[in-house]
Amino acid sequence: MKIAVFAGDGIGPEVTAQALRVLDALPIKVSLIEGDVGGVAYKRHGLPLPAETLVAAREADAILFGAVGDFDCDHLERHLRPEQAILGLRSELGLFANLRPAKVFPGMEGHSALKPEIAGAIDLLIVRELNGDVYFGEKGTRTTAQGLREGYDIMSYDEGEVRRIAIAGFEAARKRRGKLCSVDKANVLETSQLWRDVVIETHADYADVELSHMYVDNAAMQLVKSPGQFDVVVTGNLFGDILSDQASMCVGSIGLLASASLGERKTAYGTFGLYEPIHGSAPDIAGKGIANPMATILSLAELLRHSLGEEQQAARIEAAVAAALADGVLGGDLGGTANCSEIGDAVLTRL
Ligand code: NAD
Ligand code: IPM
Ligand code: MN
Repeated sequence: MKIAVFAGDGIGPEVTAQALRVLDALPIKVSLIEGDVGGVAYKRHGLPLPAETLVAAREADAILFGAVGDFDCDHLERHLRPEQAILGLRSELGLFANLRPAKVFPGMEGHSALKPEIAGAIDLLIVRELNGDVYFGEKGTRTTAQGLREGYDIMSYDEGEVRRIAIAGFEAARKRRGKLCSVDKANVLETSQLWRDVVIETHADYADVELSHMYVDNAAMQLVKSPGQFDVVVTGNLFGDILSDQASMCVGSIGLLASASLGERKTAYGTFGLYEPIHGSAPDIAGKGIANPMATILSLAELLRHSLGEEQQAARIEAAVAAALADGVLGGDLGGTANCSEIGDAVLTRL
């Protein structure tokens, strides 16, 4: 089993190091290959996603990804910016389905930004499309007839792109509580009207799944009002990005939310995928050793589950994280005092 490890920028290396300690403690043999991504890769190789990193990614069964993003690089032309590393990996590797689970761990209801009785009901999965939308359409800046500078980014989805993510959403709902909510902005956007039409067509093959539709503005509100109503939420790239950060605070912290990005490629053990926390490089706390590595450790669990067929080890890691939280091992993001390596220690002890 081969895992490519791309730690990246800011807190990326700090949180990835703790996940690797957990991996090392498991009774499974894996070989690791490291690669540069993001601002660090730009500084070393002149590119945020060097060719050798992409080769390493393709040769692996799975990728463990930290985070990219470096304010020093924000003046660069867009194709040289750190974020292009993650966008490039997602699109080059065909990783179109981004699974972002959000669940309140037992005893953690009081750490949500919501009232505990509302937070306690959260157990949802955001299925975010990852290869299309306004992220990957034509973009640029131009001058209007009035001589004004204008920026533009084209939003589009074709029916094939919508169908495959709708299928991912229905399949996920089938394995959970059988409810799928498709989130769009069909009252305004043509892209969303097509999205809704195709989701409805796809439903014909999933009559056992209860399908509903919600506009994204209402979904943002409902996520705070009564998040327990959601089982699986399927949505586009941009809406899914925003709603998942919001969901993280309903759970308690962005330092707790993991993700799996999957496509169609199978490996000898499961489905090839990239696994990363939903958070970024957190430049405000980078280098201080205080980031919460739990989101990355939980991403490792997703990696073991989906790409390596090691469900039992995945469940062990999740139980160890839950036990650490239940015992009050909290990072600064959750109002506690445990630092990054102490959280790693606590998870390892309970493993
Ligand atoms: P961010 O997620 O990096 O940070 C937002 C806030 O959450 C910050 O206050 C940060 O300190 C806190 N935070 C994030 N992760 C944490 C953790 N594990 N423990 C404790 N606190 C944590 O978002 P941002 O500040 O908007 O972006 C910073 C950089 O990261 C930007 O360059 C952005 O483009 C990039 N980014 C990258 C990814 C990715 O690599 N997939 C995701 C999001 C943002
Ligand atoms: C995420 C991030 C990325 C995204 C950025 C860094 C390109 O916010 O993984 O959620 O928008 O997808
Ligand atoms: Mn994001």
